[in-house]
Amino acid sequence: MICNNITIQNNTLYFGGLDTTALIKKYGSPLYLIDEARIRHNCRVYMQAMRQAFGESALPLYAGKAACFKRMYEIIREEGMGADVVSVGEIYTAYRAGFPMEKTYFHSNNKTDEDIVYAMEHGVGAFVVDNVEELYAIDREATARGIKQKVLLRLTPGIDPHTYEAVATGRVDSKFGSAIETGQAYAITREALQLGGIHLAGFHCHVGSQVFDSEVFLRAGEIMLAFVAEIYRKEGYLAEELDLGGGYGVRYLESDPYIDIAANVAQVADHLKLTAASLNIPLPAIRMEPGRSIVADAGMTLYTVGTIKRIPGYKNYVSVDGGMTDNPRYALYRSPYTVLLANRASEPCDFVCSVVGRCCESGDILQENVSLPASVSRGDILAVLTTGAYNYAMSSNYNRIPRLPVVMVNAAAADGKTDYIAVRRETPEDVSRNDL
Ligand code: LLP
Repeated sequence: MICNNITIQNNTLYFGGLDTTALIKKYGSPLYLIDEARIRHNCRVYMQAMRQAFGESALPLYAGKAACFKRMYEIIREEGMGADVVSVGEIYTAYRAGFPMEKTYFHSNNKTDEDIVYAMEHGVGAFVVDNVEELYAIDREATARGIKQKVLLRLTPGIDPHTYEAVATGRVDSKFGSAIETGQAYAITREALQLGGIHLAGFHCHVGSQVFDSEVFLRAGEIMLAFVAEIYRKEGYLAEELDLGGGYGVRYLESDPYIDIAANVAQVADHLKLTAASLNIPLPAIRMEPGRSIVADAGMTLYTVGTIKRIPGYKNYVSVDGGMTDNPRYALYRSPYTVLLANRASEPCDFVCSVVGRCCESGDILQENVSLPASVSRGDILAVLTTGAYNYAMSSNYNRIPRLPVVMVNAAAADGKTDYIAVRRETPEDVSRNDL
C-alpha cells in the first residue's frame, strides 16, 4: 500500500491499525479519518532531519493551510514544531490550541490593517512580508505599539518548480513576494532596514508544492544565499533566518516515487553549507514549511456508495455521499488519488468507472478511471486514500452540504482512546447559522 499505516485484513481496509468499516459504522458516513501516529511520525522526520542537517537553530514550521483545526495544532505543538499561518482564522485556531504564538509565522500576499492588528494582538512571532505596502502598514502598527516587529521578506527567486501552474509560486511573475531579478527584493530590503518598527530577521521563498526532488531547493537556496551575501556586502546586514518554504511531495498513487526526506534535507544542507562558505557568509538558521507531507498520508476519506449508473457503450458512474465539497482537488487540479472499496478490499477490480459526488454540478468528480469490483453496489464503503492535506482545509458548503467530521485514530493510545472526534459533523443548522 502507498503508506505503511494502511493494511488489508480479511478483505477489509485498516487505517492506522483500525478497521475502517467499524469506524464508519460508529461515526457515520461520510467522514475524514486522520491518523495521529502518522502525523507525529511525519513531524519527527522533519524535526530530526533538519536538526541533524542544519543544527539546533533549524525549525520546521507546519503549514496550517494543509489541514487546520485545533487538535492539529495541539499535536504540532507537542512535537515542538513552529507553524505557518495565513489568516486570522488560522491564527485564532492556533491560539485556541495553546500554540506558542512566538513560533508562528504569518503569511499572505495581502494582509489587511485589521489582519496585522489581529496578529500582533495574538502575539504572532514573525510576519512574512510580501510587499512594501504591507511593510509600511506593519511598521506603522508596530511603531504605535512601541515594538519592533520581527519580519522575514518573501522573495521570488524565479524558479519554475516543474509542478502544475496553479501551485507554482516562486517564479518572477508570481503574485507572491518581491522578485530578486527585478531589483524589487533589494529595494524592499533597504526599506525594511530603515524602518524603526521593523526587525528584519531574514528572507523567505516558496518555490511550489508537491515537489519531489531536491533540485529545486538546491537552486532556490543558492539564489537566496547569493542575495543574502549581496545584501551583506552592500548594506552590512546579515540575515539570521532563511525560510525555504513548503515541504516535499507525497505519494498519491502506488506509481509515485518514494521520497527519503531525511536524505534529501541532508543533501540540501550539504549544498547550502558549501554555498554559504564560498560566499563567505554564515548559513542563516533554516526554516521549512511542510504542510502536505505532514498530514496527507495521515488522512483518508470514507464514503458510502449510492447510485451506480452504467451507460452502455459510454461510461460508468459510481456516486458517493460526498464529493467536491469535501475534496475539490480533482475538480480543481485533476489530482490523482487511490480509490478502493474498504469492505471488499481484496476483491479483483475490473469495473472501470468515474467516482462522482452528489453536488448539482457535472464537474463534481472525485476521480476518473477508477477500477472497482464489478459487483460494487449501494451500501459499499468507498475509501479515498491520502486525503489528509488540502481536503478538509478546502472543503465548502456548496449546495449547503454540511461538512464532514474529522475523526482521529490512534491505535497505540496509552489511555485506550483509539479513535475520537476532533471536528464534529456539521448539521443543517450549522450551515444556515449565519443567516439573519
Ligand atoms: N509555505 C508557503 C508559503 C506555501 O505557499 C505553501 C503552500 C506551503 C508552505 C506548504 O506547502 P506544502 O508543504 O504543503 O507543499 N491547494 C493546493 C496546494 C496549495 C499550496 C500552496 N502553498 C493543493 O491542494 O494541492
